[in-house]
Formats: sequence, structure tokens, C-alpha cells
Amino acid sequence: MAERSPGVAVVNEEKSEACVQSSMCQDIERVLISAEEIQDRVRDLGRQIDERYAGEDLLLIAVLKGSIVFIADLMRAISIPHEVDFLATSSYGAFSTSSGVVRILKDLNEPIGGRHALLVEDIIDSGHTLAYLTRLFSARNPASLEIVTLLDKPSRREVDIDLFWTGFSIPNEFVIGYGLDFNQKYRNLPYIGVLKPEVYQADSE
Ligand code: PRP
Repeated sequence: MAERSPGVAVVNEEKSEACVQSSMCQDIERVLISAEEIQDRVRDLGRQIDERYAGEDLLLIAVLKGSIVFIADLMRAISIPHEVDFLATSSYGAFSTSSGVVRILKDLNEPIGGRHALLVEDIIDSGHTLAYLTRLFSARNPASLEIVTLLDKPSRREVDIDLFWTGFSIPNEFVIGYGLDFNQKYRNLPYIGVLKPEVYQADSE
């Protein structure tokens, strides 16, 4: 095995291929979930969604922006007919996060009354966003309302959420890639990576 210099972050093959010649590469401490692991899990989720909603009027609802990569892959892993719609939200900062108030920047185009709605999220953290959206959409009387999230950080939960499907349960680390951002960047990485603390600490100084 090759020796590593002390203090040099582990750079595995996938990371170096995906971001070679990009400044993003040097900001990433390590790959937490590889692109292949994600694709395998998304295929599993697609099969389970096929089984659960066979013969039903299924509407996938993605919460922008983090879910765009996940829903793009998930909808192609689902073989039954379905529609997609998008919702944009914004919190009001720290106070609103703890109060659970979420501002709707863009509502759905489609009505969900009587339909099987499946909310597609990239990550559940405190749970406030989905707690709010669950209340909002339940009031519109869908035939069913479930949640699929790629990532879950259970150690950060402040409100209970009934997750129907979870791709991966992860520790409380600053993750980016596969749709997830830091300052709107890194969403295009094909894997979930852990950001070096000095990157986000430098930003808060
Ligand atoms: C993330 C994620 C969820 C929310 C989860 O969105 O996509 O919508 O945070 O956090 P919570 O469980 O603590 O409510 P973010 O605000 O980062 O916006 P983005 O999807 O546009 O990146």
C-alpha cells in the first residue's frame, strides 16, 4: 500500500476521476457514498416504488434545488407511468427553521387531490421543511402522501417525520454532491462527498 503524508486527505480513485482538473477536488475530504452505490440504491428504490404504486396515479414532487439530480435518476428507475412536479421553498433563517415556517417560492403546477403524491427530497436534516410540506399537502387531500429521501441525518432531527423510503442514513457531516450544495456549488459531483471543514469555516469567518 502506498504511504500517505500525514495530514493529506485520502483521495480515492473515484474522487480524482470525477473532479480532476477542477478546483472542487481539493475541497473534498473524502467520498462518503460513491456514484455506483448511489445508482444501485436508486435502482432499488425505483423497483420498490414500481411495486407500491402499480396501477395508481403517481405524482413525484421534487423540492428544489437539491433534489434535481436524485429525481432525474429516480424517475428513470421507475418503470410505471407517472408525472413529476416541482416545488421551491425558502426558509426565513435560523428563527424560522426552529419555528418550522417555510416560505413557498414556487408552488406545484399540478393539483394533488385524489392522487398518490410522493415527495422526493435529497436530505432530511432537522425535519422542519418536510413537516411543513406534509401539513401543506395533506390539506389538499391526496389519495396518499409519502416521502422518499436519498439521505437522512437522524442525529439532527428536531421534529418527527414518517419517511417511507430512505436511500442512506448518514452521520452528521457536511455533505455535498449529487444535488447537494455549499454556497450553490458542488451539486454536479456524481457522488456524496464530505467537505473539508476549512472550506465552510473560511466562509463563516
Ligand atoms: C435542504 C434539503 C431540504 C432541507 C432539509 O434544502 O433539500 O429541503 O434542506 O432541511 P431540514 O430537514 O432541516 O428542513 P436547502 O435549504 O439546502 O436548499 P436547496 O435544496 O436549494 O439546496
